[in-house]
Amino acid sequence: MLSVRHLESSYGPAQVLFDISFDVGEGEVVTLLGRNGMGKTTTVNSILGLVRPKAGEIAFEGRPIRGLASYKVAQCGIGLVPEGRQIFPTLTVEENLIATAATRFGTPRWTLQRVWALFPRLRERRRNLGSQLSGGEQQMLAIGRALMTNPKLVVLDEATEGLAPLIRAEIWSCLASLKAEGQAILVIDKNVDALIPLADRHVVVEKGRVAWVGTSGELKADASVKDRFLHV
Ligand SMILES: Nc1ncnc2c1ncn2[C@@H]1O[C@H](COP(=O)(O)OP(=O)(O)OP(=O)(O)O)[C@@H](O)[C@H]1O
Ligand SMILES: [Mg+2]
Repeated sequence: MLSVRHLESSYGPAQVLFDISFDVGEGEVVTLLGRNGMGKTTTVNSILGLVRPKAGEIAFEGRPIRGLASYKVAQCGIGLVPEGRQIFPTLTVEENLIATAATRFGTPRWTLQRVWALFPRLRERRRNLGSQLSGGEQQMLAIGRALMTNPKLVVLDEATEGLAPLIRAEIWSCLASLKAEGQAILVIDKNVDALIPLADRHVVVEKGRVAWVGTSGELKADASVKDRFLHV
């Protein structure tokens, strides 16, 4: 579904990504792991057209998407839940969801009703402004907004950062139910242990290069991966 090959990206003169290659298949959950500042956000922003890569190939469903404007990448079917949530603070929950709804292409898979079913708490707060939500509710709204674009692939960048353990668990269980429906997901998160049961494969990024790739079973079996690359 998504194929990234030898991706390189820079901020001005500072090169940050040197060689990133990985795949996400249909219905797969893949993680990007790595310590702070290793290039995970830059990788997803390069895929989403928010950072302009300087070299490498990015293909989605066989179509080259490297260098496309971010709205065009979204139209191809990739939905981002960005680092820091970035919901609209002055719109209500319902307005936030409607703002990203993609209704142009036939019957949408995702509707308000379906988002309410996934996050009943958002339905209760549908008339509240984005700025009036708790951190966990904002995160649920950010996920709901990405789903309203009917993405074939959802990308979550640190969706549980700064949240209480119970809320984190709620978000992971939401990802598990999305996976059970066949939704492909690329997830960045520091809580590796929570991702092991959820994910099919893991991609470890170290200083802008892919340093290790393996299945959840392989990651569990090789404690040195965590010691070397994840510092836990
Ligand atoms: N807008 C920017 N301008 C210049 N340098 C940047 C910018 N964004 C990130 N960087 C640098 O690029 C490198 C990779 O950052 P990136 O945000 O991709 O890391 P990350 O793996 O997502 O880290 P974290 O886990 O802390 O979110 C870091 O050295 C960072 O300081
Ligand atoms: Mg990041």
